[in-house]
Amino acid sequence: MRSPVPTVPTKLVDVEVASAPRANVPRVVLAATGPELGPGAANVDLTEVTGKAGETMRQGDSWVLGIGKSELKDWKIAGAALVRGLTGQAAPKTADVFLTDIDADRLQAFVLGAALGGYRFRVTGDDADPQVRSLRLVVADEGLEDVLTEAALKAHALATATALARDLANTPSNVKDPKWLAGTAAKIAEKVPGLTAVVRDEKWLAEEGFGGVLAVGGGSTRPPRFLELSWNASLKNAPHIVFVGKGITFDTGGISVKPADGMHLMRTDMSGGGAVISALVAVARRGLGVRVTGLVPCAENHVSGSAYRPGDVVRHFGGATTEVTNTDAEGRMVLADALAYAVRRLSPDLLVDVATLTGAMKVSLGLRTGGLFSNTDSVADSVVEAGTRAGEQWWRMPLLEEHVEAVDSEIADYRQCPPGPGGITAALFLEKFAGGVPWAHLDIAGPARSEKNYDEVVPGATGFGARTLVELVESYASRA
Ligand code: BES
Ligand code: ZN
Ligand code: MN
Repeated sequence: MRSPVPTVPTKLVDVEVASAPRANVPRVVLAATGPELGPGAANVDLTEVTGKAGETMRQGDSWVLGIGKSELKDWKIAGAALVRGLTGQAAPKTADVFLTDIDADRLQAFVLGAALGGYRFRVTGDDADPQVRSLRLVVADEGLEDVLTEAALKAHALATATALARDLANTPSNVKDPKWLAGTAAKIAEKVPGLTAVVRDEKWLAEEGFGGVLAVGGGSTRPPRFLELSWNASLKNAPHIVFVGKGITFDTGGISVKPADGMHLMRTDMSGGGAVISALVAVARRGLGVRVTGLVPCAENHVSGSAYRPGDVVRHFGGATTEVTNTDAEGRMVLADALAYAVRRLSPDLLVDVATLTGAMKVSLGLRTGGLFSNTDSVADSVVEAGTRAGEQWWRMPLLEEHVEAVDSEIADYRQCPPGPGGITAALFLEKFAGGVPWAHLDIAGPARSEKNYDEVVPGATGFGARTLVELVESYASRA
């Protein structure tokens, strides 16, 4: 039987940097809003060209590509538009792109856009539309080849992380159960030197007291797993960063069941876990000099006679208890166990969790910006800066003092779903499990999915968060 998911991660366009063009290869020349053209533009007619970022116009065997005002975002849009423009029946396999006035940051943005803009996830028996396979970026200045090649490699590594996060999240939940998610991550990790993976089963979870993961996973016939990825575990003196990602492989809401409309989208409810897995793979491939651990509690939140109930009291790893008030708030239940495990077993210097946690955050910030909460100003700043470098936008939200009490329960240590602003009270609940460690919580319920094409994003899972995590590790590595 054919596998219902692509067996190979989606192939992204290859990119090289060189100072010499090739003979008999289609050429792409740039137009800024101006318009000014780059070299190689000799026989291009500019009458209808506006230079707007992402404008692609075919002229014989050449293309004109708009780069707008030449800002970073314009370059990302142009890269994505070029690859989309070079898809279809008459698509060339390769092209030479003549870059003018380029620096490392702009080139990185362009390559990121080009690599991700052509991403597609389709489960089908048909062949995909022919698409450009490789690009040569022709730079006028030979002296810049090395720096620009370095920038292209980094952009490609970041794009690869995003693409893997998309693949994992787009995989339908008839295939993707907790065992599949943890096992697939472990299989990928095994191929990366120095990256190790351990997958724990429900028996281990019961022995160790992961009551949150077991409660949420208890309603499904497909039992929960706990994935632990380690990079540089032996570097005992290096700073230790621990990432925790929500790995709900499908969220029905459980007994507090979700409405049918839109429930199918909950196959991407492990997007935080996917971002963590992809980030660990990218960090290891880039050989960054810090210690990083990725934890992904994997469970399916389902409805059945063995499902957990509103009113239950659950004991988390480490002993704290939670009064369940809504089984659809399952993300914080599994994250609480994983955060407590990180604090007690891994002595992290920095703890970051990533999750499609609340619909409230989607309402607050929309679909293109992640919500960021932190108990440490410098950590919040580092996340925002890492996001800016990676092309992912974050907005800091407050851990409001006046709502802290709402997390207390009459019959347990904590109340799972306090009244009040949903994104904030969820963060306040998680803070109880972060043990005072410098910590950030990233709520990606909004930007984890897209309905349309924009910038480097295509409809479906976006892979949001993976690149920010990699950049965050890079910033600690360069400080260490
Ligand atoms: N996975 C959802 C959050 C979500 C909603 C992600 C929409 C992406 C798009 C989460 O598990 C959930 O159901 N949260 C509830 C919490 C509530 C019961 C306190 C919500 O936001 O409605
Ligand atoms: Zn959920
Ligand atoms: Mn839910």
